[in-house]
Amino acid sequence: MSSIIEDLIARKVFNNRGEETIEVDVVTANGFGRASAPAGKSRGKNEVVYYPQGGVDAALKKIDEQIAQELAGLNADFQEEIDTTLHEIDGTANFKGIGGNTAYAVSLANAEAAANSHGLLLFQFLGGNAANMLPYPLGNCISGGQHTRGKAPDIQEFLALPHGAATFLEAQTANTLIHKKIGDMLKKKSTGFNGGKSDEGAWIANITSEEAFETMTKACEEVGNEVDFECGFGIDVASSGMWKEKEEKYIYEREGTKRDTAEQLEYLIDLTEKYHLTYVEDPFHEEDFESFAELTRKTKNCLICGDDLFTTNNERLSQGIKQRAGNAIIIKVNQVGTLTDATDTIENAQRNGYTNVVSHRSGDTTDWHIAHLAVAYKCPIIKTGVVEGARIAKLNELLRIEHFLGNRARMADLKLT
Ligand code: PGA
Ligand code: ZN
Repeated sequence: MSSIIEDLIARKVFNNRGEETIEVDVVTANGFGRASAPAGKSRGKNEVVYYPQGGVDAALKKIDEQIAQELAGLNADFQEEIDTTLHEIDGTANFKGIGGNTAYAVSLANAEAAANSHGLLLFQFLGGNAANMLPYPLGNCISGGQHTRGKAPDIQEFLALPHGAATFLEAQTANTLIHKKIGDMLKKKSTGFNGGKSDEGAWIANITSEEAFETMTKACEEVGNEVDFECGFGIDVASSGMWKEKEEKYIYEREGTKRDTAEQLEYLIDLTEKYHLTYVEDPFHEEDFESFAELTRKTKNCLICGDDLFTTNNERLSQGIKQRAGNAIIIKVNQVGTLTDATDTIENAQRNGYTNVVSHRSGDTTDWHIAHLAVAYKCPIIKTGVVEGARIAKLNELLRIEHFLGNRARMADLKLT
């Protein structure tokens, strides 16, 4: 079995928003891997740069003219060496040279090619023979904020978390039932609701945040009773998009209110208590570690998760750990570029009791690699929608993994601290 890289082939493809993106094939002597990069809409300002100047076309040229030659002859088994080489070729601190999405596609395609060269599935290759834990699916049911174009709740995402499920199939079944029930409820409740959905497949309706909270509560309760296990829910406030630096306030446009930091804290504590939220992502803007820490101290049985706050960056996570800002972290590999960078962050989070939440991007392809990363690295949660093609690609891959593992499969150890 040889994992020596023979060739890299790169092409332009499209994501579910119709945006151009990059796909890379890595060919080894005995194997093959393919990966395509996702794209965010509510991006953190500390994310790496997606493409070099000139966009996807320039990235393809970099692969053809330089990266393919430099990686040829290297061993795909040594992921760190491949990723270090990508950093060296790039030569910048934020992947401005070759593009973070270029690095992402090469890095993930390489990992898969290595696994394939050994006749293993990606999660087995990365996680070893003992890897057998499935994540809980955190599924977006109602969209708002920057993920919508018209009137919708100011909060970006309302997400179901069926944390009482005994299997991934049961959990994903519950999420589909909740999603469907919400669609039916919105049809009754909101005049003008026409069944529209966001890029992530969540419903878009002209309702207030309050109405969204009530709808989620009812749907999760009813489905919880039907399936006979606990179905909770949470939110992604995505509050960097609401924060106005000059005014030092969060602007709730739909609601017609503004909240300063103290009011935002109070609002979120109230919401967490009133609706028994199990998950709150980006409750404060991306530089406010202190308020994250305060909310974490003042809430119980709820994950306080940093997405734009950490941008999967290990240094930013270390800063958060020092201040005890949050107790969970979103892992989006293309926020940092390579698999090695992301696994450093995942391991740091694990060592320090933070819950890893592997996540899709709102603009995504049918690439399913994050399903394998969740299992390989024992991430207790995967955030990747409920319906829509790019989401289903990952969710169905987890169902395949669960099926493949048979009676060895377990649900991850999820603590809602
Ligand atoms: P994205 O953000 O649009 O940048 O993918 C989704 C999120 O905030 O989690
Ligand atoms: Zn987010």
